[in-house]
Amino acid sequence: MLNTSGTTISPLSVPQRLLLGPGPSNSHPLVLEALSNQPVGHLDPFYIELMAEVQGLLREVWQTSNRLTLPMSGTGSAAMEATLANVVEPGETVLVAVKGYFGNRLVDMASRYRANVRTINKSWGEVFSLEEIEESLIKFRPSVLALVHAETSTGVCQPMIGIGDLCRKYNCLLILDTVTSLGSVPLFLDEWKVDLAYSCSQKGLSCPPGLGPFTMNDRAEEKLSKRIGSVPNWYLDVSLLNKYWGSDRVYHHTAPVNMNFGIREALRLIVEEGLENTWNRHKVNAEQLWKGLESLGLSLHVEKDIRLATLTTVKIPEGIDGKKFALHLLNNHGVEIGGGLGDLAGKVWRIGLMGFNSKKENVDKVLNLFDSELSKFKS
Ligand SMILES: Cc1ncc(COP(=O)(O)O)c(C=O)c1O
Repeated sequence: MLNTSGTTISPLSVPQRLLLGPGPSNSHPLVLEALSNQPVGHLDPFYIELMAEVQGLLREVWQTSNRLTLPMSGTGSAAMEATLANVVEPGETVLVAVKGYFGNRLVDMASRYRANVRTINKSWGEVFSLEEIEESLIKFRPSVLALVHAETSTGVCQPMIGIGDLCRKYNCLLILDTVTSLGSVPLFLDEWKVDLAYSCSQKGLSCPPGLGPFTMNDRAEEKLSKRIGSVPNWYLDVSLLNKYWGSDRVYHHTAPVNMNFGIREALRLIVEEGLENTWNRHKVNAEQLWKGLESLGLSLHVEKDIRLATLTTVKIPEGIDGKKFALHLLNNHGVEIGGGLGDLAGKVWRIGLMGFNSKKENVDKVLNLFDSELSKFKS
């Protein structure tokens, strides 16, 4: 085939990579099989049934009974934006607890919805205490508190016990980012009294990027129903989307049906393995990785009790060019690991063990590579 400049474009050939970075992670082979089916119509009775299955499975992995639970068409950022777009009105105070890169994204988005954005900050690698959260709720009296459960930029997991109770006490909604925890790290949305949450398809769910699971409870629905102005984002307006995902099944946009085949299979696989088993597999493999890295003389950036099983930040030793090493692993060994973001740029590598990729052979592989290759990069 000739393109306009007269050169030949060969058929697509994608290199095989083992994705052990911050995401995307490799997809499960059965998910890839599901994706490769011919599409069906987005109002086909088969598809309507599949939509309900996806909603039910999402409720299960999130441990919620929220009626309004659905995969947004778009990546995690679309679902993140949907939470703010639906419950924030201009001028309302939104408090964001920032402890990394994705907290800052919440700040940016909330500002674009013209919220009065307030922040509390922690250095990158730490988490908030309940006292700090309570003090800030008293000080700012926000109508929404937004925070990240699993901060992919730093590798911390925010302890959640008690935060939802504080939000109820001070009458504000709680938005939780579960992009790097859904399907891999214990999550109990209802028990934790989380009002809105979002995630992605490409990490713990072992699906390609393209869907952003979203959920909101009755408190959030009530806030949405009492809005003065309409939701300032047509595509992400849950009251419109609900007409398609709810019982009416009215066309909103052409659903990415194959992505929903994929996520249905991905979620089914998690439920088949058992949620607790899945969480435990991630924990065991992460602990093996931590032990192995430390026995190679490397230091981890985050204290053990708040470390995230899906994402480990490893300090780049003095004298080593972290970028060069990561590029070497990719180009010569087909293994992707991530570099640091924001405050941690150039300081850490980020190693992900997410979903299908959280397995012993991958832990061994990455440890062997660090063992055999890193010394070649010492100056
Ligand atoms: C914690 C967190 N929140 C939000 C996002 C944004 O998701 P996406 O890149 O799928 O839009 C990411 C992406 O890695 C993330 O790690």
